[in-house]
Amino acid sequence: MTDIHIRPYTKADLDAVSEIWTAAFGADAPSKLVDQSISEKERFQPGLVFVAELDGRLVGTTIAGYDGYRGWLNGVAVHPDFQRRGIAREMVHHAIAKLQTLGCLKVNLQIRDGNEAVVSFYESLGFEVEKRISMGKLIG
Ligand SMILES: CC(C)(COP(=O)(O)OP(=O)(O)OC[C@H]1O[C@@H](n2cnc3c(N)ncnc32)[C@H](O)[C@@H]1OP(=O)(O)O)[C@@H](O)C(=O)NCCC(=O)NCCS
Repeated sequence: MTDIHIRPYTKADLDAVSEIWTAAFGADAPSKLVDQSISEKERFQPGLVFVAELDGRLVGTTIAGYDGYRGWLNGVAVHPDFQRRGIAREMVHHAIAKLQTLGCLKVNLQIRDGNEAVVSFYESLGFEVEKRISMGKLIG
């Protein structure tokens, strides 16, 4: 198991998070929105954006959320140079433990069409594919 340190995000992490998201998500990277989206997330529900450090370098991110009914995971990413070392597994365990302290009983997540390869990652953590149709609407 890699010796990693998982801690809450701080504003000083912004550039490193952008770099990870660009490297990990590629064309799907919401990098232009990192500042705006994480700032709003921290304002609304602080302390649920986590980063993973390895030897002082920021290498991974996970965003957790709890709406009082369900927990959610977003932004689970590890820089490609550091994948397959158990870093994302540690981050997801960490985020779930935090959600449990808030009373959360179930965690959901969405995987983009075309990114089915990560199903195996989540299945290795006990998640199951659930038959759902995901819908969304921009309201802002
Ligand atoms: C998905 C992702 C976060 C996994 O990060 P990671 O740190 O490499 O994952 P871990 O090392 O913790 O993997 C734990 C286990 O999950 C499984 N797993 C991880 N990545 C996998 C892959 N690409 N294919 C199949 N199984 C995988 C393996 O069982 C692995 O254990 P093992 O290495 O001992 O076999 C990383 O690949 C990533 O950042 N991908 C791009 C961004 C992304 O798509 N995020 C998910 C959005 S829903």
